[in-house]
Amino acid sequence: MDKAKRKAIIAGNWKMNKTPKEATALLNAITPLVKDADCEVIACVPYVDLAAAIEATAGTNVKIGAENCHWAESGAFTGEISTGMLKEIGVEYVVLGHSERRQYFGETDETVNKRTKAALAAGLKPIVCVGELLWERECDITEEVIARQIKLDLWDVTEEELKNVVIAYEPVWAIGTGKTATSDQAEEVCAFIRAQLAKLYNQDAADAVTIQYGGSMNDGNADELLSKTNVDGGLIGGASLVAEKFAAIVKAASK
Ligand code: 13P
Repeated sequence: MDKAKRKAIIAGNWKMNKTPKEATALLNAITPLVKDADCEVIACVPYVDLAAAIEATAGTNVKIGAENCHWAESGAFTGEISTGMLKEIGVEYVVLGHSERRQYFGETDETVNKRTKAALAAGLKPIVCVGELLWERECDITEEVIARQIKLDLWDVTEEELKNVVIAYEPVWAIGTGKTATSDQAEEVCAFIRAQLAKLYNQDAADAVTIQYGGSMNDGNADELLSKTNVDGGLIGGASLVAEKFAAIVKAASK
């Protein structure tokens, strides 16, 4: 982390876990533990939990995010949620392009880009996820994959809008597998992402972007991962569902 240049952000991605009542209970456990955090703290929760989560975190330093959004303002898109719907209830962040969305729900860089632009236009802050598959790493094309995702996912995003974008580097092989990237691997790709941003925008704009690492990050490895200059936070799956573990990661990012 380089807190002089950019904001450190720890975000939970709850995925398809917790009912609204369970969400309230978990956030009631988390909020007192993270109240003195010296980093941004976010919980990205299932759509139906959003209202309960916003209520449970009112007046605290915990921000709430959604796990996706559609690009259209309204219309015949059964099962989708618009940015306006999220904004109206007080959502601030939205996870976009998560590998599970890409893998199981057919999302492409094109749809991730449309969602990103729609989120920014609505005043939501997108957490745009990128990352290579194990096969792609083994074939030594990690940088090509990441460069392509960054360029396409942020296509037509202005330098001004980039200030509200968070990037999450999530190597797909490290998600939910217990297999964390080493801190050197995480740093290497996060630095590469920043170099790509500098090419697409400029160095100052790139230096100001928060780049998180995600993939089996937990209370045991957070310190080491966050010690790297270009790892500005974490997007946490499993460990974000346990208040003490999530709080310990927030503590690591608060140093
Ligand atoms: P895990 O922390 O469970 O590996 O999940 C990471 C992730 O996908 C966060 O978006």
